[in-house]
Amino acid sequence: MKNIEFYINEHKDRFLSELIELLKIPSVSADPAFKDNVIKTADVIKESLIKAGCDHVEICQTKGFPVVYGEKIIDDNLPTVLVYGHYDVQPADPISLWHSPPFEPVIKKTSIHPEGAIFARGACDDKGQMYMHVKAMELMTKTNQLPCNVKFMIEGEEEVGSVNLSTFVKENREKLKNDVILISDTGMIAKDIPSITTGLRGLSYVEVEVTGPNRDLHSGLYGGAVANPINILTKMIASLHDENNHITIPGFYDNVEELSLDDRAEMAKAPFNLQAYTKALDIDAVYGEQGYTTNERNSIRPTLDVNGIWGGYIGEGAKTVIASKAYAKISMRLVPNQDWRDITELFKTHFESIAPAGVTVKVNPHHGGQGYVTPTDSIGYKAASAAYEESFGKTPIPQRSGGSIPIVSLFEDELKSKTILMGFGLDSDAIHSPNEHFGLWNYFKGIETIPLFYKHFTALSK
Ligand code: BES
Ligand code: MN
Ligand code: MN
Repeated sequence: MKNIEFYINEHKDRFLSELIELLKIPSVSADPAFKDNVIKTADVIKESLIKAGCDHVEICQTKGFPVVYGEKIIDDNLPTVLVYGHYDVQPADPISLWHSPPFEPVIKKTSIHPEGAIFARGACDDKGQMYMHVKAMELMTKTNQLPCNVKFMIEGEEEVGSVNLSTFVKENREKLKNDVILISDTGMIAKDIPSITTGLRGLSYVEVEVTGPNRDLHSGLYGGAVANPINILTKMIASLHDENNHITIPGFYDNVEELSLDDRAEMAKAPFNLQAYTKALDIDAVYGEQGYTTNERNSIRPTLDVNGIWGGYIGEGAKTVIASKAYAKISMRLVPNQDWRDITELFKTHFESIAPAGVTVKVNPHHGGQGYVTPTDSIGYKAASAAYEESFGKTPIPQRSGGSIPIVSLFEDELKSKTILMGFGLDSDAIHSPNEHFGLWNYFKGIETIPLFYKHFTALSK
């Protein structure tokens, strides 16, 4: 559509400077020190939705950070698209590894983004991708080509598990009623290989605590005679995988859906270069569950990973000590049909059962969520596919992702609608890592592709 490209070109600089302003606000939801900035970001999103042409915009309070809601209902007989995104970001730590301050966005060229990429925490996850929708909305209203009704729901607690969002959704079923949910908070295979995310993994996140003696002990006087909680914890963790890298928790795989060989063969058609993959990560080999390829290991298979582990003395020099306590944070990525509450229970029972005499073990569940798969024969998927075909000149590849957006399965349960995941980030964009960035090309391509989704979805809904 010529007028889409024309409008984007005309307003390119402003589209970018607005995103830069948004990225300057450190909306870190995990850290209470940033509370005011998270709330301020919600206000900025509210203003941007009004400017983009929403008729009714409000900040909805929750027990945590607010949800920004906006809508434009043009005709009750037309379909309604609900856009979901999040305005909170991950903590920027470790800040020393950033080449420029995380909340002072800069544009730099990279080999993958020769047109330039914007470097800042949240650039890709999810402020940049969420803001594409706000600008696509502006484009559609200003050029009189909004073909259907739109609702926006932008939350501020995604990175901490969206714990208050389920209540919000349950209490606002009527308000959030829609025909399809559209989210840009995932990635695509490459700039010249468009893809649509058809699956997300579920998640169970727990923290474990191993307690030995009632105080830190001299490791000479007591060493060898009492259980060392750090030794025990690492041993227990190591036992959670067998020699084939299968997870050893009894019942863990019970509900895992095994894909047919046909489905796996279909998956294997997606372009993947193992050499480029290892090279980009500076590793000499990949590692994982026996019997599965890298792309299967990180999407259709469940995993268990330690995210952090601590205890004892970690300061300068040496201190001869047996710590009283040792801790670890553990995440399990789950696949559809595995229930995250059941898995959390299985983990807890098993982990407590393998604790030897001499220590006590506590398992504290954090948060979790269900996985999701979206069918490729729905109107929403077909509309997305047609939109990519029009803007990229190529049919997008359906691809299941390894990441999690727990609210998506809740949307299906509560609102009975399917979610379409049109992600424009790249795996190399370093989300959650130092030097997160988002390609300018990707940003503008997203703004160009989104209105085409609305057009095709409305047409196909007739
Ligand atoms: N946007 C990501 C999830 C994602 C990224 C999915 C790339 C697919 C591809 C989201 O913000 C996120 O980080 N989710 C968390 C889970 C949440 C409960 C903290 C995750 O996946 O770790
Ligand atoms: Mn995200
Ligand atoms: Mn994230």
